Amino acid sequence: MRAQALVAVAFAAALSLVGCSSGTPAASPSASSGASTAPAGGAGGDVGVFTWWADGSEKVGLDALEKLFKEKYANDTFVNLAVAGGAGSNAKAKLAADLQNGNPPDSFQGHAGAELQDYIRADQIEPVNDIITALGGSSVFPQSLLDRLTVQGNIYSVPSNIHRANVVWVNPAVLKKAGITAEPADLDAWIADLGKLKAAGVSAPLSVAGTWTQVQLFETVLIADLGVDEYNKLFAASANWESDGVKKAVAHYAKLLSYANTASDGDDWPGATDAVIDGKAAYNVMGDWAVAEFTSKNKKDGEDYTYFPVPGTKGVFDFLADSFTLPKNAKNPGGAKDWLALIGSAEGQKAFNLAKGSIPARTDVPSSDFPAYQQSAMASFKSDKIAPSIAHGAAVSQAWNSDISSAISKFYGSKNQATLVSDLAAAAKKNAA
Ligand code: BGC
Repeated sequence: MRAQALVAVAFAAALSLVGCSSGTPAASPSASSGASTAPAGGAGGDVGVFTWWADGSEKVGLDALEKLFKEKYANDTFVNLAVAGGAGSNAKAKLAADLQNGNPPDSFQGHAGAELQDYIRADQIEPVNDIITALGGSSVFPQSLLDRLTVQGNIYSVPSNIHRANVVWVNPAVLKKAGITAEPADLDAWIADLGKLKAAGVSAPLSVAGTWTQVQLFETVLIADLGVDEYNKLFAASANWESDGVKKAVAHYAKLLSYANTASDGDDWPGATDAVIDGKAAYNVMGDWAVAEFTSKNKKDGEDYTYFPVPGTKGVFDFLADSFTLPKNAKNPGGAKDWLALIGSAEGQKAFNLAKGSIPARTDVPSSDFPAYQQSAMASFKSDKIAPSIAHGAAVSQAWNSDISSAISKFYGSKNQATLVSDLAAAAKKNAA
């Protein structure tokens, strides 16, 4: 209990640094009465749901939700509007165009935090306070998470899950080739292990994919080198992106990339995780959607793969949460509310998160219902300090993320550390609120 309270404080502090407003949500006049008064079987009609869980192991999670939605809301017809591309790399542009053209889906996937604030500021989504209240409000969702979905007293989306981004996925059979048995204590020890693997004939022991996966790797290195408190300060208006800590992180990141495969900008994450599964690489830093990929290939936790926090980030939970919205002028708001009620329910969260690798956003889904990895993630979420993810919309707006991504993509080609530091500083200056 005490640990939980401390985390809540740490989380709230982290959130306040990224410009989220908090406070008790007021009932919204425009939000409907939500789950409790929906007609039995649902509002009826097509319900277009936009995500980027288009195929592979991610689609398995969406399929689990679709199945339950059909069972619970037999009047409604689920229409899958998914656009492929990890982290929404293609989906977000299509979504922006659809919203701009007055053609919103009935509900779309967004990230809790700064990314969601973009849609709120652009007046593209409606409050869903009443749905959250009907689902149990802050008695079932952490208040610190609700704060991240709240602006001026209104809650703007229903969280479906919480993912952790700072996880190294490991192939123990590959480590064996270099006689590595222990988890590295910090980034330097990890880099030394990468060197041993290379010397043992593993040509690219660390797998990476396209730009967003590199941004994610970089954010974890920033957390390791700055520490969580300094990392969390990076998103405040006065932040210093040219500090010795950031420079050290850039140097570590450059070193890590020297042990990685060659990737193209658009390469998607399953390829990088599969490199670990197939024994081509020893390590991949990936969010815990990777669990679903291991499971889909029948790989066994503790035998075929293991995991640890990115060295130097133990005790930190690099956080992101998928959450679903009610767009303004949705064609079927009643059906959208059915969808939101489902994904926010304990049953929906259990079905989805079991398949997705993430943990429920709700606190009343027993951890004993989940396999070992998710149990460990639930325990970490309770006791760790929280750092918001850059790559996955928690820490920065889409515009800022896009500038950081350009800087990281440029660096992938040039390897010029001084330029990366000044590009990151310029991005912060341009975008920090
Ligand atoms: C989403 C996850 C998804 C991952 C890879 C993240 O931005 O939050 O749900 O699995 O991207 O596509």
